[in-house]
Amino acid sequence: MSIQLSRVREDEESNSVHSYQQTTKRDIWRHEAIVSDLSENKSIPYQVISRRDRRGKAEEIRSRVFTLAPQPQPGVPLKILLTSDHQLKPMTAANLQKVAETIGRVDAIFFAGDLVNIPDRASEWFDDTRGGAFFPCLQGAANYQLEKNGVKTTYTGGELIQHAPLFPAIGNHEVMGRFSPNKSLKEQFKNAIPRHRAKVDYAQIAQQINPGEDRQLQQAWLKANSFNTDTYEEIFTLPQSMKGGEKYYAVTFGDVRLVVLFVTNIWRSSSLAPQVQGKYRERDLDFHRPENWGYGQHIFESIAKGSPQYRWLERELQSEEFEQAKYKIVMFHHPPHTLGENIVPPYTNPEQKIEYAADGSIRSVRYEYPPEKDYIIGDLVPLLESVGVQLVFYGHSHLWNRFVSPTGTNFLESSNVGNSYGAYLGEIKRSIPKDNPRFNYAATGNPNGLEPIIPNLAPLLDRNNQPLPYIASNDITVFSILDTSDGSVTSYRFDTRQPESEVVKFDRFFLNR
Ligand SMILES: [Fe+2]
Repeated sequence: MSIQLSRVREDEESNSVHSYQQTTKRDIWRHEAIVSDLSENKSIPYQVISRRDRRGKAEEIRSRVFTLAPQPQPGVPLKILLTSDHQLKPMTAANLQKVAETIGRVDAIFFAGDLVNIPDRASEWFDDTRGGAFFPCLQGAANYQLEKNGVKTTYTGGELIQHAPLFPAIGNHEVMGRFSPNKSLKEQFKNAIPRHRAKVDYAQIAQQINPGEDRQLQQAWLKANSFNTDTYEEIFTLPQSMKGGEKYYAVTFGDVRLVVLFVTNIWRSSSLAPQVQGKYRERDLDFHRPENWGYGQHIFESIAKGSPQYRWLERELQSEEFEQAKYKIVMFHHPPHTLGENIVPPYTNPEQKIEYAADGSIRSVRYEYPPEKDYIIGDLVPLLESVGVQLVFYGHSHLWNRFVSPTGTNFLESSNVGNSYGAYLGEIKRSIPKDNPRFNYAATGNPNGLEPIIPNLAPLLDRNNQPLPYIASNDITVFSILDTSDGSVTSYRFDTRQPESEVVKFDRFFLNR
């Protein structure tokens, strides 16, 4: 089967082979083949050959020979890479190269979202000229120069996905905002508004475009005028759920039942400056132009109790596949527990507060996030803990830290892959509004109660030689491996300032409930 990717484009800010003066569509096709009749637990070689006729001359491109295997049966030992937040960041190619050098071939990759930065920019997936595009990094075909202390080292990434399936979750960077033929891709990426808001606009515009009962036309309009994950869905063939399609799904892979959720909100700045469209406020100059509002850090797909996704999850957690699986893992993008920045404000629908002056003009448009309405902590996590999920795996804040709840559920954020956005403990404080009269969002620590666990093999040390309960570094990159032969999750670190240094195993825990 072949499809043309419908939304991939380039623009002035692309690092692409050709330069673009304006937002321009790129002609990219995806070909898919299905190999059937594979023998259980046996991998076979494969090669991809692409032929075309060019001006009467036959041309042929051949890949090298790789391997493919059928979906593994329970009992087969597997090594699974837990990764996220690649986003063409500086250390990503080094990280994946070290995965391949340390582990060899992995049997699968669980990817907790944020694959690229702007999903509709084709070069970020395929051929960014800086050498660190998404697919090349995961194929060992990258060519990324990382400079540390004046020394440049070239990293190729790791040959991983030619041999193993990738199961991703949608992060905020897989979601594209309102479509425009000419605005920059970054503007379109940031310009996502909630679906419910687009429905209000649609009600007004419906009379003009007169769609009648054409539901498809309505859906297309709503998507083009709110947000979409089309490129992600077109690039990947994934397991699907009835309600969520590829957006949320579950799959049995050997001894693992992996449940993947669409739990992410748009990221906006924490700045309170008048010219910033942020988490906590609209821009001054937009007060009277609601068509330009960003609606705070709105959630793309609800996970609140009673929502379609939540109801699907409840059914999934009662399924035989889930109940019988040795390892029950749930993956989504937004952190339930973290020392990172993105845990504030709470994960809930922004509550809009508009203040008016005496003359009726708008004085401020603000957003608040009541902690008691945090859907991850209030609705999702208690459900996962109640059914014996052993591992909740996520990303988003670009650091490594882990937690264990009193029920024995492990929480792992292994997102210090390409870079870090820091850990907030002690003197290092998150940027939160100081003038919020109702809520005091947590400036430090994990606001959701659990204490971070100090890595048990080789933690990094702080200035006073005390072990750090996290890794948040732009020099040290981290990856984690689930080994289903013993249920261990082992985390490794590599210091890119010392390219010749060994990878260090720094933490290990077991999924053993
Ligand atoms: Fe993210």
